[in-house]
Amino acid sequence: MNEIIKIHGNKKLNGEVTVSSCKNSAVAILPSVVLASEIVKLYDVPEIEDVKVLVKLLGLLNIDVRANGDELTIDPTEICNVDLLDDDVMRLRASYYFMGALLGRFKHVKMYSPGGCNLGPRPIDLHLKGFEALGATIKQDGNIIEIDAEELKGTDIYLDFASVGATINIMLASCFAQGRTTIENAAKEPEIIDLSSMLNKMGAHIRGAGTSEITIDGVFRLKGCIHDIIPDRIEAGTYIIAAAAIGEDVTIKNVIPQHIEALTSKLEEMGVKLMQGPDYIRVLESENLKAVDIITQPFPGFATDLQQPLTSLMTKAIGTSHIEETIYAERFKHCHELNQMGANIQYKTGSSTIHGGTPLHGTDIFATDLRCGAALVIAGLMADGETNIHNAYHIYRGYDSIVSKLQALGADIE
Ligand code: EPU
Repeated sequence: MNEIIKIHGNKKLNGEVTVSSCKNSAVAILPSVVLASEIVKLYDVPEIEDVKVLVKLLGLLNIDVRANGDELTIDPTEICNVDLLDDDVMRLRASYYFMGALLGRFKHVKMYSPGGCNLGPRPIDLHLKGFEALGATIKQDGNIIEIDAEELKGTDIYLDFASVGATINIMLASCFAQGRTTIENAAKEPEIIDLSSMLNKMGAHIRGAGTSEITIDGVFRLKGCIHDIIPDRIEAGTYIIAAAAIGEDVTIKNVIPQHIEALTSKLEEMGVKLMQGPDYIRVLESENLKAVDIITQPFPGFATDLQQPLTSLMTKAIGTSHIEETIYAERFKHCHELNQMGANIQYKTGSSTIHGGTPLHGTDIFATDLRCGAALVIAGLMADGETNIHNAYHIYRGYDSIVSKLQALGADIE
């Protein structure tokens, strides 16, 4: 179904918005429950489509999930390792965490390859090499991956690239491996720390999450736990950018400011007026924004996930901004849509150039992926007239209650 978000733009935003819990933590934490032998309680789970799909996949594994608002009680005691050959696996990227978790728990997993946003090629060779290094053998038949191990043995694994997904998958697969696994050149994203702290509450022995060297000492069993998921730094960044674009006085609450320093320091360079508290960021109306250049990098560098939303703001800045995208060279589909709205953006594989100072006007545009959708929502809020964002389901995959949160700030959006 083509769901449409309709925005009548150019209305100033004011007030407070509370950021939900982190999508990319939640989508790793849910599959990790496969490793537990007791009930896990999760608080503040974001109400997004990706979470709903993962809950369905947990159901296929006979894991009982009860929801009470944003609280989930997950009972894996009757788990059954069935093959995950269900179309839902291909609806999102994070279904690949079932590979590490099921391999770790049962030494066998058979499932479809994951899906997710179309950002160009997204290989999982580093995940598979990690599983092989632990002792697994992998068979691939078209879209089906089967991974088996007689036993998993801890070892040293060096990642050629600090991949978030590979780091998490190897952590999951090695919790029950014999001896010590060391991941070198590990990704340092906050979501990895969140998962590691939850697994450690369950009895895992993981050290160094958040640094480039993570060690996992294998254990025999993981118990249950209660866990609060960290706030979503990308959702926070999206609202901060929206406020910088069309806000008068907006406070973004439930933020860990250290998680988005690369964004806030860039915004300050652009001339955005920001005030920061321990768990909030206040954005005041700012005129005459300046063009800036960014290069996307793994954490703590500038997040690729915020590159697209920031592009919308850059159309307002005086001068020419450049973006170099080092993570997903083809993450530029939003640029075509923004140009339909009056932007002047040149883009090619790996980079974009935004000639700023171009007022945007509403029109019919298409969300092609999640953060493209976020960029278009910001553009629609900035634009004169009516913007219709088609394929809005991409946006609901990762933004909890985005329409009502923006309505509460005064946006004319439905
Ligand atoms: N890569 C490989 N081989 C691999 C794994 C990754 O070549 O085996 C490459 C990728 O193609 C990419 C780069 O390494 O060029 C980074 O990929 P990474 O594995 O770090 O990303 P991911 O785990 O697939 C997660 C987030 C993305 C986010 C990236 C980068 C989840 C579910 N997804 O993806 O989030 O952009 O890290 O921070 O956690 C989003 O939320 O919109 C989103 C796309």
